[in-house]
Amino acid sequence: MALHPLAQALHGTLDTHPSLPYFFSHRGRGIYFPKQGILGQTAEAKGKAINATIGIALDDDGVPLHLPSIQSHIDLPPAEVYPYAPGYGVPELRAAWQDRIRCNNPSLKAAISLPVVTSGLTHALSVAGYLFIDEGDDLIIPQPMWDNYDLLFQHTYGARIRSFPLFHNDEFNIAAFRVALSESSRKKIVLLNFPNNPTGYTPLREEAAAMVDAIRRSAEEGNRIIVLIDDAYFGLNYDERAFSESFFAPLADLHENVLAVKIDGASKEEFAWGFRVAFLTYGIRGLTPEQAEALADKTAGAIRATVSNAPLLQQHLMLRAFNSPTYDEEKRKNAAMLRERYEAAMRALREPAHEDFFRMLPCNSGYFFCVELREGIDAEQVRQMLLADFDTGVIALGSRLLRIAFSSVPVADIPRLVANMIEVCKKTTHTQPRSRGSLPRTEG
Ligand SMILES: Cc1ncc(COP(=O)(O)O)c(C=O)c1O
Repeated sequence: MALHPLAQALHGTLDTHPSLPYFFSHRGRGIYFPKQGILGQTAEAKGKAINATIGIALDDDGVPLHLPSIQSHIDLPPAEVYPYAPGYGVPELRAAWQDRIRCNNPSLKAAISLPVVTSGLTHALSVAGYLFIDEGDDLIIPQPMWDNYDLLFQHTYGARIRSFPLFHNDEFNIAAFRVALSESSRKKIVLLNFPNNPTGYTPLREEAAAMVDAIRRSAEEGNRIIVLIDDAYFGLNYDERAFSESFFAPLADLHENVLAVKIDGASKEEFAWGFRVAFLTYGIRGLTPEQAEALADKTAGAIRATVSNAPLLQQHLMLRAFNSPTYDEEKRKNAAMLRERYEAAMRALREPAHEDFFRMLPCNSGYFFCVELREGIDAEQVRQMLLADFDTGVIALGSRLLRIAFSSVPVADIPRLVANMIEVCKKTTHTQPRSRGSLPRTEG
């Protein structure tokens, strides 16, 4: 199918970069933001005395028609609540989020795009799949991973997930990462999610440097690499040796062959899971303002084609929060509470009682920790018994892993949670527990 003239115009701009045009999927190549359609014509009519373009309903005084039974619960003016949001997101929020990215990642000096607002991180990930993944493309992801990547990328866009074990001897498995990079096709897509779901791991600074170096070397060999950086849990680090910036910071200006795609948002970072406000931001060495805008145009096109635009009310609520004098303190307080829970979990897991039954995977950040059960103890059976006999809910991942969201358990309950896990494991173990050293090392 021939490209639409608007898509052609975008590629005219993207083609001025040596690599940018080659990253797109077939679907992504064709997409464009319909600036000349209803949206463009509506924009041109803005401010006219009689404006019969807008697809919402206005009262005689120009205020969006609305229901008082809704408005009575909301402390924002109707214009910030009911209309459609711009396809790219509320401009002030996009600018504020870009500032926050820079502020939280002081080493990021390169030009980056203005973030485009999506309807939650899952949607941002899906839009990235839309733009960059073709059927059969390799997607490199360390294991264990957030299970929704399967549906998002494999099921929906036909990616072939090439996983490699996240850990080797309880360290980031840099050797396996290098192999995965060298073995996949020339166009490579890598997904980095740190702090990680499910393990709660963030690479240490030197591990992060080695990962970036591996990507650089692969790019220098002529490979084109898209790195999807899922920063859902950004900022929740509990160990000062862990890499505290986003991987977007070192990757956004790494090489002309590396497109860094930052995916982040309100869900976890702003403690606003149901808001459905997230962002997609791009960085690549040599990015010009025109190319950055073309990337945003394509992203907004994919959003227009899927959910049209993200919720307006929540975007304005976030802006209000950023402008609040107590915002930083409020966030610090919540983060401190999560850190206390993390520390309580680490204390409980330091007790040797559990070592005959499970071992903890490395964890230094985020919401979760994972334990790997001793061979012969079945994760689903443990989960069922915890539910039935101990009033305790955890997640079973495969046959050997349990994921525990310490983020949602009060400090006072954490020792009991770990004790319950140990009790259940004891019950399910019919044979004598093995010696402590005999648990298998986790490779995935
Ligand atoms: C790693 C990771 N990425 C993305 C998401 C999705 O976030 P959202 O709720 O904004 O769609 C989650 C949610 O649990 C997650 O754990």
